[in-house]
Amino acid sequence: MSLYIFSKRKLGALALLAVSGLLVFWVASAPHPFVAADIPPHTANLENGKLFYNIGGCISCHASEADAAVPAGGKPFATPIGVLYPPNLTSDPKTGLGKWSNLDFVNAMQKGLHPDGAHLIPAFPYTSYANMNVDDVLDIKAYLDALPPVKNASKQHDVMALPIIRRGLGLWKWIGLNHAKFMADSKQSTSWNRGAYLVNGPGHCSECHTPRTIFMSSNTAKLFQGGPHPEGKGKVPSLRDLSGRGRYKDAKDLVLAFQNGEELGYDKMSSGGMGEVRKNISKLSESDIAAIAEYVMSLK
Ligand code: HEC
Ligand code: HEC
Repeated sequence: MSLYIFSKRKLGALALLAVSGLLVFWVASAPHPFVAADIPPHTANLENGKLFYNIGGCISCHASEADAAVPAGGKPFATPIGVLYPPNLTSDPKTGLGKWSNLDFVNAMQKGLHPDGAHLIPAFPYTSYANMNVDDVLDIKAYLDALPPVKNASKQHDVMALPIIRRGLGLWKWIGLNHAKFMADSKQSTSWNRGAYLVNGPGHCSECHTPRTIFMSSNTAKLFQGGPHPEGKGKVPSLRDLSGRGRYKDAKDLVLAFQNGEELGYDKMSSGGMGEVRKNISKLSESDIAAIAEYVMSLK
């Protein structure tokens, strides 16, 4: 019976609406990759690549199941939409990034795009890596290229309706992905600016330490005020006013916490992914760790 409520004309109008809706969706969710001319000529610096590989935390997600120190991918990564299997980042030409150009790599790291144009799931924190200098991004690629290639085919993610979600991410990127590059603050010290860059770009600290809006984009009005805990219970602590709240005496104290964590009795440095982050930070030079601590302790 109820079908007869729709006259033929109404059905026609509805069909038209649906088709134009799909068309708008298709256009608005299209990928917008960089083109070759956007990528500057680059001389690789492997030391710098290693540094950014470490602070970027690539190994925390891209470790292989066989060897936790090799970024050949495959270790399951649980997210609210399902289990992801971060892919192989080694230079194996078939199963890794061996055939990727610099352009392909920058498009993945800063636009969240696979070389075929598919949108990547932002569990891969390209939303933060987008703020990095392109030279630092390209040095990470050079570092990865120099590692021994490991054959390890990517496993399929265990996510329902993944192709539709991928396409829909094109819409989400209008609000969720900010391409603004890091800008130094001339009123602050060189080390503070270094810390600000490491924290907000490669370190992707805000991905966990900032709450999200209802659209799952970073709520920048509440930057570093703490977020939902990745393990579901409790909260990721706020990074604001750490000294006022008596968490750390000063930046030196926080450096020790980053370097030693619970071994020296510092709590709140292990659960919810922070243990991995701390380990990655502790691989940096003393001056970079101090820069991160100086910046974090300045957040009021
Ligand atoms: C928090 C976890 C996480 C971290 C940290 C992370 N990744 Fe990923 N990465 C992922 C996941 C998950 C995917 C798969 C995304 C998808 O399939 O849409 C991915 C995908 C990628 C891709 C795209 C591969 C492809 O075939 O499309 C590249 C390149 C990449 N990551 C490089 C890196 C580098 C370099 C770093 C460190 C600077 C890094 N990732 C850090 C989780 C992470
Ligand atoms: C994967 C999510 C995640 C990322 C990324 C992350 N953190 Fe954390 N962080 C946490 C969680 C969860 C805790 C609390 C851990 C605990 O209680 O054991 C924490 C704790 C901390 C603390 C201790 C706070 C206190 O009250 O003592 C500091 C400082 C901190 N993080 C700094 C950083 C910095 C700097 C970065 C970036 C380089 C970063 N975090 C990236 C999840 C994250």
